[in-house]
Amino acid sequence: MILPDLITDAQTTEERFLRHIFVRDQMAEWSRSPLVMAKADGVHYWDVHGKRYLDALSGIYVVSVGHNNRRVLDAIREQFETLTFSPSMHGTNPVAVQLATLLAELAPGDLDAVKFQCGGAEVTEAAIKLARQYHKLTGNPGKYKVISRYLSWHGSTLGALSASGLKSRKTVNEPLAPGFLHVFPPTCYRCPFGKSYPDCGVTCATLVESVIEMEDPATVAAVMVEPIGHTGGIIDPPPEYLPILRDLCDRHNVLLIFDEIITGAGRTGHLFAAETFGVTPDVLCTAKGLSGGYAPLSAMICRRGIADAFWGPVAENPGFVEGHTFEGNPISCAAGIAVLREILERDLCGNARAQGERLRRGFEALAKKYGVIGDVRGKGLFQGVEFVRDTNTKEPFPAEVGFGVRVGRRALANGLLCRFDPNWLAFGPPLVVTAEQLDEMLAVLDRSLGEALESLRT
Ligand SMILES: Cc1ncc(COP(=O)(O)O)c(C=O)c1O
Repeated sequence: MILPDLITDAQTTEERFLRHIFVRDQMAEWSRSPLVMAKADGVHYWDVHGKRYLDALSGIYVVSVGHNNRRVLDAIREQFETLTFSPSMHGTNPVAVQLATLLAELAPGDLDAVKFQCGGAEVTEAAIKLARQYHKLTGNPGKYKVISRYLSWHGSTLGALSASGLKSRKTVNEPLAPGFLHVFPPTCYRCPFGKSYPDCGVTCATLVESVIEMEDPATVAAVMVEPIGHTGGIIDPPPEYLPILRDLCDRHNVLLIFDEIITGAGRTGHLFAAETFGVTPDVLCTAKGLSGGYAPLSAMICRRGIADAFWGPVAENPGFVEGHTFEGNPISCAAGIAVLREILERDLCGNARAQGERLRRGFEALAKKYGVIGDVRGKGLFQGVEFVRDTNTKEPFPAEVGFGVRVGRRALANGLLCRFDPNWLAFGPPLVVTAEQLDEMLAVLDRSLGEALESLRT
């Protein structure tokens, strides 16, 4: 038998051991140059071979307050001494109530009742169930359909996956759940309706009302969107988009759900993107940066009026029928409280805004220098670029070139972790990033872009 301590860190990149584990990437491809991280500090990772990486992605938009953050580590250590698990089937614990109260205080408008879980999919799925159960409890049992968007990602569980609009992750798992419809997202750079903002009348938003009407409003429970879409290549809507959704949802008694799994916890320059856009949803889901990666934590926050529907005599309603074993875990909640304290007391939202402007300028300079960036999108420390072969015609690079992947792989080789796809690349560094660190990240990207272009010539 091979005991873990008989395998050295370096050996964990050998295929004979990697054969025992699934990762998110295609295994055969990934195992040719496997990334196995050994330690981290601040905005840096080190892999098992001792190579250092600048973390321009916060792991994957998770490490909001930086790696090895003293305040969070101390809070978790203290919590370990007191209570590590409470009976989630029968109750909760003081730290969960404290974090719920804090979130209720911090979330915009009357968003003030919280359901905790461990991951993003668990809360986007909980939001869908909340919408359906809410309508049942309030006399509209026929409202069950969920409208979400193509190119979106709400998570891997079957309900969240059914709401997602990313065919590369869906098709292999079909058939998915019934009752999910998709509309086109606000991809202004390539408008699906062939229009141009602002003369377009924001058709991508107004059309959602037509979909609700065609489906029959009596059957529609919720509209779920990421305020800034991620997987479609940082889809940043025009300012009117979310207010229009808010208005049409109100008029048809449809709940508006924001998936802020990435955009929450300060990433767009305010604690929630709901504030960045000035629109309060009925349900807000957040995760990733909320616990900064120190323990698994996600939260679904709903408006007072919705939560109230779940109170009342048991003969009339069974409460919110949804739950997982580890919800409201005290260690995770202690991490969440410490992370929020860190964000608030160090004004990391302000830093996200300031460094976000620097990041925007950096991306724009690269666009000018190389002529292969057609669009720069996003807000705060959640921004990306779309690569094109021709900035005038917006013609993309041929699929077989996979230009964004070339750049991203060069960046990894050069010691920079960022998010990349065939046609786009994004940065989402920890909110604690300094101007100097951001410049260093941009410099490595600059070099990697140059090398990727050079590779096209050889
Ligand atoms: C916008 C968004 N929603 C939901 C999820 C699902 O979160 P998790 O992977 O924690 O289940 C993700 C994960 O990347 C995401 O980016």
